[in-house]
Amino acid sequence: STTDRSIKTLEQKRKEAVSLAYVWPTEHRPAIQHDEFTDIEIPTIDLTCLISKDPVARKQVVAQVRAACLNWGFFHAVNHGIPHELLERVQKQAQRFFAMPKEEKLKVERDPKGYTGYGNAGVKPTDSQPWSEGFYLANDSSVDKYSQVLWPHGDNEDFGNSYREYNEKAENLAAQLMDLIIESLEVNADHFQPYLHNASGLLRWNHYPPCPQPHKSLGMAPHTDFNMLTVLHQGDIGGLQVQKDGKWVAVRPNGDALAINIGDTLQVLTNALYKSIPHRAVVNRTQTRISLAYFYAPTTKSEIVPSPELLERTNQSSIYKRFTMEEYLAVKKGQLLNTLQHFTLE
Ligand code: SIN
Ligand code: FE2
Repeated sequence: STTDRSIKTLEQKRKEAVSLAYVWPTEHRPAIQHDEFTDIEIPTIDLTCLISKDPVARKQVVAQVRAACLNWGFFHAVNHGIPHELLERVQKQAQRFFAMPKEEKLKVERDPKGYTGYGNAGVKPTDSQPWSEGFYLANDSSVDKYSQVLWPHGDNEDFGNSYREYNEKAENLAAQLMDLIIESLEVNADHFQPYLHNASGLLRWNHYPPCPQPHKSLGMAPHTDFNMLTVLHQGDIGGLQVQKDGKWVAVRPNGDALAINIGDTLQVLTNALYKSIPHRAVVNRTQTRISLAYFYAPTTKSEIVPSPELLERTNQSSIYKRFTMEEYLAVKKGQLLNTLQHFTLE
């Protein structure tokens, strides 16, 4: 009420106001807050069949995957085989990293030419800053290098260990999910094998601190993912929102569930039968949120071509020009949305 507001000291008011750099233009602000869930929810798919190898259950799961890919481009995976204990350990490592002073974190700053390191999440639609920071990790020698720079006394062995364990499990899960997705397309898997062989994984830890004015800012601007498939752990605190028929839908956190979504590359491989859906992260007033996003992508030299069998069966030709992952990334780097338009045939 007005009285409440008038008794706040100037100091309080100052603390509550978000620095102007983080205030987004009205048209970009989120109309739905982090906990505004409805009964419109992304599908949840139980992946027990990956462990049980029950062929009947697998068939049902393939049908669910197909429906989720056609209707949402997103689903929650449960019983996915990544242990709770490991998710917690990685979350703890991310907390430990982000809690470090800024100057420590800047020691592992992301090189604009490279993929790994500390920084924020790429480009934005306006000059406004996202209310977040990120740390990108890949399964190469940079992990040991970062570990040494951040913990020179060797007092954090679990940084590298938990990263490697998580990377291996996430990669394995992504590959198995791709198998389900290929089955759901009812095409021979051969065309997809080159994309799956030596697919590369990139993990991004996202940190969204509490924000005094969450309705005026965004943690991550609306974007589509560049890769084939993303495996996201958003923990217990909501923030992920996905577009469904042009409207934003808040994704209710579901413990150890992993949010799986289709990236731009998979959209092309399916000639846009399965679509890469815009999503964003909103922030909240009181709780620190950490999410773990694992991006599964073909290697840079791969040429991304729709499945010929799928084209034949649907009596279509490719709607995309031929391009490599490398060429795609060069354009995507400066863009959040609609990058595929550059690669679409007239
Ligand atoms: C992302 O899209 O990579 C992150 C979304 C989130 O933090 O929930
Ligand atoms: Fe994303």
